[in-house]
Formats: sequence, C-alpha cells, structure tokens
Amino acid sequence: MLDNDTGVTLNKSFLGYHPMVNSGVSMRVNPLGVSYFFAVIKDSVLPLCFISVLEYTVPIMKRIRNIDGLIIQDGRLYTENPVSCRGLRIYNERLLDLDGKEYRSWNPYRSKLAAALLKGLQNLKISKNDHVLYLGASTGTTVSHLSDILTNGVLYAVENSPVAMKDLINVASHRDNIIPILADANHPERYNAIIAHRVDMIYQDVSQRNQTDIFIQNIRWYLRDDGQGVLMVKARSIDVSLKPKQIYENVKQELGKNGLKIKEMTDLSPYERDHAAVVVSKQ
Ligand SMILES: C[S@@+](CC[C@H](N)C(=O)[O-])C[C@H]1O[C@@H](n2cnc3c(N)ncnc32)[C@H](O)[C@@H]1O
Repeated sequence: MLDNDTGVTLNKSFLGYHPMVNSGVSMRVNPLGVSYFFAVIKDSVLPLCFISVLEYTVPIMKRIRNIDGLIIQDGRLYTENPVSCRGLRIYNERLLDLDGKEYRSWNPYRSKLAAALLKGLQNLKISKNDHVLYLGASTGTTVSHLSDILTNGVLYAVENSPVAMKDLINVASHRDNIIPILADANHPERYNAIIAHRVDMIYQDVSQRNQTDIFIQNIRWYLRDDGQGVLMVKARSIDVSLKPKQIYENVKQELGKNGLKIKEMTDLSPYERDHAAVVVSKQ
C-alpha cells in the first residue's frame, strides 16, 4: 500500500504490528532507492535487514486505523494542528513538523482517550465528519485533540465549571469546530436548543458518582441510533469501598439493562489508575 503523503509503505510483517495501527507503515524514503536495492539483492535476507535499519534512521509515521488523521510516531500519538493554531500549544505538548504539517503530541497521562487508544482500544471509529457531544470538557485538553480530528465535524463541549470554561473558550477561539456549553450534564434538556441534531458520538469524562446515569440520559437525548458512546469510568468516584473491577462490572450491567450494547472495555492503567474506557452502541 502506498501512502500519498509520505512515500513508500511497507507490509506489516516487516515491522512490529499493533491491532490499532494500519497494516502498512509509511516511511519517508526515496521509493526508487528501495526498488533499486531490492533489484540488486532480491531473494536474499538482506532486504529485511536494510528495512530494519531504515526504521531506526528515518522518521516513520503510522496511521491509526479507524481514527481520521491520527498518527503514531516513536510510540507517541499525534493529531494534526490546524493551520489556525500553528505554533500554539494547549498543555505544553510537543509539536512536530512532518511533510509541511504540524502535529501535536497527545499525552496519555493527560488524556484518557489517548490512554485508551494506546492500550489498544479497537472498536472506536472517529471520522473527520462526525458530530460529537463531549461531557466534562474541562479546560480542553482532550477536546483540542478531538477538534484536530474533526476537521469537517462539530464538537459540542459541555462543562459545568465556569473556571474551566474560561480556558475552554480560549481553546475554542482558535478553532471553528468547538461549541463550548456551560451546563450541567445531569440536565441534557438544558442544551437541547444548542444541539439541533443527534450526534454520531457521545464522549463522557465527568468523574461523578452518578456518571453512568448521566451517560445514559445523554445517550437517550442525543445519540443517533447507529452512533457510539464512550464512557470513561472513574471507579473511585462511584464507590471507594468496592474493587475497581467490580465497579466496571456493575457499570456494564447498568448500561446493558438500559438497552446499550458493550462493544469493548479497556482498563487505562498504567496511564490512569482505577479507570476504564467503555465503548457502547445502541444496537
Ligand atoms: C476529569 S475532568 C475532564 C478532563 C477532560 N475530559 C480532558 O480529558 O481534558 C472532569 C470534568 O468534568 C466536569 N464535570 C463534572 N461534573 C459535571 C457535570 N455534571 N456536568 C458537566 N461537567 C461536569 C468537571 O468540572 C471537570 O472539568
């Protein structure tokens, strides 16, 4: 497979394979050089060695399956910084220039979605056209990366803290796809006038005791029938006396009782202790 952005793409059998990484790996090397080399010593084991050396000597960019525009390089996730944000950092993240584009590293210790993806979450699809409702947007760390991905979509970012909202508005001011909403996610009817259509995805990270209930209510109000929900479960917010695994089971049961199908659950350790990501669908 050839990647138009970056040049030669190698088969996964040459390089380490991870379930969330596309089956090819893009390398910024001259394709002619590689072909010539293969022509000279084809049928020998040497090409494999050559490719392995290249892996460590040239920048390698892998695209992540199912998530538009997301790349992984040197084990780090990156999203593409929009032109309107060139040179801007949200939380002191690393900036990387590749092929005339600027990418921002996505820190799994600061964002549970990045942690879940690095832990191999597979059943999540995010298209650049998606409309997403984000509950618990805080100061905009994860929101900003989703905004990078949703280049043709919309991100409704609900947050109930006026202090966090100030930073969130600042993040949104450089981007045209974030709609900040100061509201309590316990009352989805209160933002009905702003969210005109049902959304493709609901993402929630609110660290509240009744987090499962908040999630279910918002799904009823806003998720399309074929949409997906992502709940970041903070076990300690629900019950400190129970083991996290027991809490995850209880959450799964409650979601199931409310007609939701559990597609996947991933523990977020070591990035976040006592947290899990749950992906659900309505059908
Ligand atoms: C763990 S932080 C979210 C971090 C953020 N998701 C990120 O990754 O950048 C939880 C946020 O949820 C907000 N929150 C808590 N309860 C809420 C509610 N009922 N409605 C809206 N936001 C809420 C808190 O104010 C806090 O900013």
